[in-house]
Amino acid sequence: MGQFTGKTAIITGAAGGIGRATALLMARGGASVVVADVQAGAEETAAMVRDAGGRAEAVVTDCATDAGVQGIVARALEVFGAIDILHANAGITGGLMPKLDTASADFMEVMRINLLGPWIAIRECLPHMGQGGAIVCTASVAGLRAGAGPIPYSASKAGVVSLVQTTAMALTGRGIRVNGVAPGLIETPMTAPLFDDARARGREDRIGQLNPLRRGGQAEEIAEAVAFLASDAASYVNGQVLAVDGALSAQLPFTPKWSL
Ligand SMILES: NC(=O)c1ccc[n+]([C@@H]2O[C@H](COP(=O)([O-])OP(=O)(O)OC[C@H]3O[C@@H](n4cnc5c(N)ncnc54)[C@H](O)[C@@H]3O)[C@@H](O)[C@H]2O)c1
Repeated sequence: MGQFTGKTAIITGAAGGIGRATALLMARGGASVVVADVQAGAEETAAMVRDAGGRAEAVVTDCATDAGVQGIVARALEVFGAIDILHANAGITGGLMPKLDTASADFMEVMRINLLGPWIAIRECLPHMGQGGAIVCTASVAGLRAGAGPIPYSASKAGVVSLVQTTAMALTGRGIRVNGVAPGLIETPMTAPLFDDARARGREDRIGQLNPLRRGGQAEEIAEAVAFLASDAASYVNGQVLAVDGALSAQLPFTPKWSL
């Protein structure tokens, strides 16, 4: 018996990266997974889960529209008959550099996918979740402090932190927990250009140089935290956002004595 045996999990943004790693891990733990993404890679993730002996259904759709999410929920209920876990994970950066002239439409598209999307997913899943249900949202260290992402991205992820806290409170008495993870710099398709560029210039050792572990993270390391928060092992953890960042967000900028 795995820790997720008999449970069904919906994972958005599961065409690759953190979402795919979470799907594979939860399925290994016995969960039936519904993997959703706007990209066809969701089908590939489902095939990987099945190849490993698990149960998976893919839905290729926009996870930040009412109709898209309602379709995912309907498929989960039709194929697996229940929804126990939601990992609201789909997101975009909207560009990697902070820009002071970001257009309103570009700002709102980041908000739509990163903040409205998780809200729609929570709202649409809740009526089908019972006591013991667990929701995990992917926030970011960029939502905790400045310096880890562009302006709309960071603001949207700060919104996700609030979404976790406020929905956890609004669910008082329902026995459904809502938590989040705040990844640091993780190697996924989202950050691939950064990692590839550093490697091409022989600067791989600079990746993650600002955190005490002195490296970037892997998607599987975030998936482990998501799985913990979604599992009964975290039965008294609620309304929290766990930074999984090698201690990047634990520190203040520090000027070494030699440079003063
Ligand atoms: N990689 C990092 O360093 C890092 C750090 C902090 C937070 N995050 C967050 O982790 C989450 C997963 O990102 P990742 O790093 O695995 O990168 P990723 O690009 O592999 O995953 C994001 C997925 O979301 C999907 N997506 C985007 N818009 C969508 C939409 N409208 N509907 C459905 N799917 C959509 C993408 O197609 C993609 O597969 C994101 O929310 C991201 O902001 C990543």
